[in-house]
Amino acid sequence: EKGGHDHFMLKEIAEQPRAIADTLLGRVDEQGRLRLDEVRLPLGTVDKMIIVACGTSYHAGLIAKHAVERWAGLPCEVELASEFRYRDPILSSGTLIVVISQSGETMDTLMALRHAREQGSAVLAICNVNGSTIPREADAVIYTHAGPEIAVASTKAFLTQLVACYLMALYLAQRRRTLPDEEIAGILARLSKAPADVEAVLTTVEPVRELARTLKNQRCVLFLGRHVGYPVAMEGALKLKELAYMHAEGFAAGELKHGPIALIEEGLPVVVVVPSPKGEPTLHGKIVSNIQEIRARGAMTVVVCEDGDTAVEPYADALIRVPAVPTLLQPLVTTVPLQVFACELASAKGLDVDQPRNLAKSVTVE
Ligand code: F6R
Repeated sequence: EKGGHDHFMLKEIAEQPRAIADTLLGRVDEQGRLRLDEVRLPLGTVDKMIIVACGTSYHAGLIAKHAVERWAGLPCEVELASEFRYRDPILSSGTLIVVISQSGETMDTLMALRHAREQGSAVLAICNVNGSTIPREADAVIYTHAGPEIAVASTKAFLTQLVACYLMALYLAQRRRTLPDEEIAGILARLSKAPADVEAVLTTVEPVRELARTLKNQRCVLFLGRHVGYPVAMEGALKLKELAYMHAEGFAAGELKHGPIALIEEGLPVVVVVPSPKGEPTLHGKIVSNIQEIRARGAMTVVVCEDGDTAVEPYADALIRVPAVPTLLQPLVTTVPLQVFACELASAKGLDVDQPRNLAKSVTVE
């Protein structure tokens, strides 16, 4: 049932190209226009979006914010469900709440959904489990088609959540006319190549596995990113915590100098998610200097960067290459080696990758 893999998690990591393709299937017509008929909501009056989720799904939301603001020109906030629920968020009928949940049963997210609906906001769910509680109570739902996720740590569900979020942002752009049709069609065409990009990453992860095994006695690993790479860093750290029981933190690289740089000591592994040098040049340059700064203080730098990015090479103790994709779509490829890294490190420590201690697949208590 694990299809020749040692763990469900590895099987699910390997299934990601298909999961992405399935999530895109049938949603784009021949003219390159999005068909998201399931989003039957009065989008014309929406003036703000709040995305609410937990854990890995929250990280998908943090990435979605960039796409929603850039493409659809809609102000977007992202909040942890357990926090959103216990304050008095200012919601109006123009506020669209988006809840993201793989299982559709997460109690914190469900309570946030109910809270928002009581205040009169429409709720759109992005969910993987058909007919689960969250999509049943939401006003509309975009299903991800990752298929059943058995391993406790979320992998393929996360990548399909990203795809669903990109589709949602582009659909809003199409309805709100914030992007020309040709540009939407172009982004969708690029998105349709994502399964091949992820497949390409999967064929090059062997060195990542070797690297992970050499780090199994480390006590701490830090992750750095900027822009959409920041939530990817947080996701890499979460995977390492939950699977390898190691202290791991994801930081915004620009925040280093405001405190976390004090953590850097000789030999500390720091994984840096580098944005495309072709995307936003200032972003790339900034992170290259961050890598130099931490290396000068003794960090062992593990650099996740685009194929052909030579500027980072002199400062990388280990390099993990990913295919070139537009900046906003980059999390689809940069997350994959971090999943493999955490999985392999946990295996090297002899831990149960599919059933980490203290965790449950769906958290139905608050
Ligand atoms: C991490 C993980 C959790 C879930 C979180 C939300 O690998 O799986 O952080 O992402 O419990 O679960 P869902 O998406 O089912 O609401």
